[in-house]
Amino acid sequence: MKVINVVGTRPNFMKIAPIIREMNRFPQLEQLLVHTGQHYDHQLSHSFFEELQIPEPDINLNIGSDTHAKQVARIMSAFEDVCDDFQPDVILVVGDVNSTMACTLVAVKKGIKVIHVEAGIRSGDLSMPEEINRLVTDSIAQYLMPPSRDAVDNLLKEGRTPEQILMVGNVMIDTLLHSQMEIDRSDIVQKLELSTGNYVTLTLHRPSNVDHEDKFRSILDALKEIQKEIPVVFPIHPRTKKMLEQFGLDKELEQMPNLHLTNPLGYFDFGRLVRDSRFVLTDSGGIQEETTYYGIPCITLRENTERPVTITEGTNELVGADRDKILEHFRTIMSGNWKRGGIPELWDGQSAQRIVDFILKLN
Ligand code: UD1
Repeated sequence: MKVINVVGTRPNFMKIAPIIREMNRFPQLEQLLVHTGQHYDHQLSHSFFEELQIPEPDINLNIGSDTHAKQVARIMSAFEDVCDDFQPDVILVVGDVNSTMACTLVAVKKGIKVIHVEAGIRSGDLSMPEEINRLVTDSIAQYLMPPSRDAVDNLLKEGRTPEQILMVGNVMIDTLLHSQMEIDRSDIVQKLELSTGNYVTLTLHRPSNVDHEDKFRSILDALKEIQKEIPVVFPIHPRTKKMLEQFGLDKELEQMPNLHLTNPLGYFDFGRLVRDSRFVLTDSGGIQEETTYYGIPCITLRENTERPVTITEGTNELVGADRDKILEHFRTIMSGNWKRGGIPELWDGQSAQRIVDFILKLN
């Protein structure tokens, strides 16, 4: 059976790594790895291939950054040629980025079966590009592999049939568990001269936060107070860096002595940073899951989440971008009154195995 595995951006790499590793055990699966090139910086792309031992992509479409329409159009056009050349039986896409949706559209129109890993998660917020990508992908992909019960329920509500759906658990956790030794070995906490459990990790990159000056400023206002009490580490995503400079907010950061700015970190260093944090402030999706897995309090700087299980079962709370609200939740954590969470069903490191078992039975 010929399978094309598609990746495009940083969060895709953590999801595909365990699936490729598992597929490699079965010589009857002929794999092609296609990188769309949506992310191309070493720190956002190549470093993850090295650390997670993902093989070099067989094909890199080198699409790069652009408006969404142009980026999606270019991926579609280039990916069509790949499908024509390789004639795959199945395409496997992960996550909810533009590359996920673009390649799904191409494949389904060509009558190629698509498997979507991380299907069914919904924020209900159509102003997020990822939500549009999720809805389009899940409405046409043939096989849907949700990470949690809520995602299964969403798919059933949208009219997908139980035969199309296999709850496989969370592939991100496969990677996290597989990387424990390297995460243990990371010296990032010492390097930044921090001490375990006594600093905060912050990440920020959603357009809904960083493209709006008022929201961005409000988060930084909260940060100004937080860093007076506990050091904060802030690995900066390129989009965030660009917007900081555009709004002239980079000067505000310089006035925060206890704030450590870094470039985007590799997977092992970042995993270590999160694991040893007192708590995490983020607007990322995947980090809500990783903090739940580690049992680290997570303040999510958004009004909604497509990962509600991290709230109902995990350590996550939706707080948004309001300065006072962020500070109120900060106080709750610092006074030791944050909820304790558990690990959701099937977040057990075996998700890739379930996915590949399913693929092997397709023929
Ligand atoms: C994309 C995904 C988002 C995911 C995020 C993880 C979509 C719609 N968004 O957002 O879901 O959470 O990746 O990082 O697919 N840039 C660089 N170097 C790169 C890539 C991007 O400097 O390697 C800069 C460019 O200025 C670009 C901007 O970042 O315009 C945004 O990149 P883009 O790929 O459009 O979206 P992300 O914000 O990275």
